[in-house]
Amino acid sequence: MLTFAINLSYLSGAVLFVIGLRMLGSPDTARRGNILAGIGMLLAIVASAVQPLENPNNNYIWILASMGIGGTIGYVSAMKIKMTAMPQMVSIFNGLGGACAVILAFSESLPYYDQASLLNGGQLAIILSTLLIGGVSFTGSLLAFAKLEDLVRDDKITLPYHNIFNLVLLAAAVALGVVVYLQGSSGSLLLLLLFTGLSLVYGFSFVAPIGGADMPVVISLLNSFTGLSAAAAGVIYNNQLMLVGGILVGASGTILTVLMTKAMNRSLLNVLVGGFGGTSGGSKAAAGDLVAREVSLNDASIQLNYSQSVMFVPGYGLAVAQAQKVIKEVDDILEANGVEVKYAIHPVAGRMPGHMNVLLAEADVPYPKLLDLEDANAALPNTDIVVIVGANDVVNPAAETDPGSPIYGMPVLKVWEAKHVIVLKRSMKPGYAGIENPLFFHEKTRMLFGDAKDSLQKLVSELKSL
Ligand code: TAP
Repeated sequence: MLTFAINLSYLSGAVLFVIGLRMLGSPDTARRGNILAGIGMLLAIVASAVQPLENPNNNYIWILASMGIGGTIGYVSAMKIKMTAMPQMVSIFNGLGGACAVILAFSESLPYYDQASLLNGGQLAIILSTLLIGGVSFTGSLLAFAKLEDLVRDDKITLPYHNIFNLVLLAAAVALGVVVYLQGSSGSLLLLLLFTGLSLVYGFSFVAPIGGADMPVVISLLNSFTGLSAAAAGVIYNNQLMLVGGILVGASGTILTVLMTKAMNRSLLNVLVGGFGGTSGGSKAAAGDLVAREVSLNDASIQLNYSQSVMFVPGYGLAVAQAQKVIKEVDDILEANGVEVKYAIHPVAGRMPGHMNVLLAEADVPYPKLLDLEDANAALPNTDIVVIVGANDVVNPAAETDPGSPIYGMPVLKVWEAKHVIVLKRSMKPGYAGIENPLFFHEKTRMLFGDAKDSLQKLVSELKSL
């Protein structure tokens, strides 16, 4: 009876994971999807914790204490975290998942080494892959976290010919893995330790040369690694739900990685062996003696009020300023005056996938007003005014025109094809990729300097007074 209830819980948990994941695909259902997947996880935890009931040596104190500590840390950090720091949080939590897989695999293999009893080949292969993938995911994610938090500088942790060094390191880890496999559990535990150590070093070194703007792709890739290592740990423990959960994380992380590299028009290999996006760099195409022209609040509001179509381009600055509700206010006033308002959403605008969609959904902007990259680019030539709110890299024409630019080839929103462009930002500072933006000096562009929320609030007042 107990076994039946446990299996039923596992099955329901797996179904809830799948439904929850599916519902995360749209802002309307995402919140409920998250709750459903959470209930699935609760079922999984309870069912796994019930299993050792019959075992007099169960570890309930340890289980409950670690759940309490982990749950508290997770809850407090999730409540405190700013939306703009979400990638860092995803990264560090993901790393902890990798660390768990390593610890599980290691502790599971210890008794075999201890008693020199035989681990079968399949088991050992799974343990070794869990150690490798989980180890890479752990230290890689920790470094990704440190990079996103600006705790380390890229040039301090990269070696000359770093990619070749990485290949050698990976080859060494794999070769050592083969030796450990061939020796089996009657071999030396020291070699297993060394293999784990090499995997950890490789994870760090793998992420070291990857540039700032490529971090989201790497985080998503590491996420899929953690999923795979959790799935492998599920095989070790013969826990079907852990296997299913791991496969879902692994598959969704892989799909997200592919989508992001596509959005940047890059191959995954190109991202991993470098090229794009350190935090310094710089395109020579812009600045020079060129001067950016400003627009006054009053002129901007008149232009907007008497246009027929306006396209907002939100970016990371919208999130920093928390200006989503005010942008909706401007939208409402313009719509009431007969102006058609749309939003152009670049797939990597902001700092996480779907960042702009989430912010705009929070402000109740109707979903059909959001145009994806392709639809927005098709509509831009017929748009009177583009208002860029804290976006920079995603509207940089150098991606199209300057083969020397680090972002050359990345699809961008071709805002310069509209009749006029107004840019809301605080200064002439570059965006995430650290490169100049020639758009700011374009003849069609006018700058409206200031915090995005502040500028939009002033625009609301101006529009109301017209
Ligand atoms: P960015 O290129 O980062 O530019 C954001 C701009 O917002 C900055 O130039 C900044 O200029 C301005 N800004 C900041 N705070 C502001 C405020 N309070 N008010 C007004 N403006 C403000 O942003 P983007 O165009 O959204 O591009 C995203 C970049 O991040 C891409 O390079 C992408 O690859 C990378 N990235 C994306 C993700 C995902 S998955 N979305 C994750 C990590 C990184 P001032 O300082 O002059 O105001």
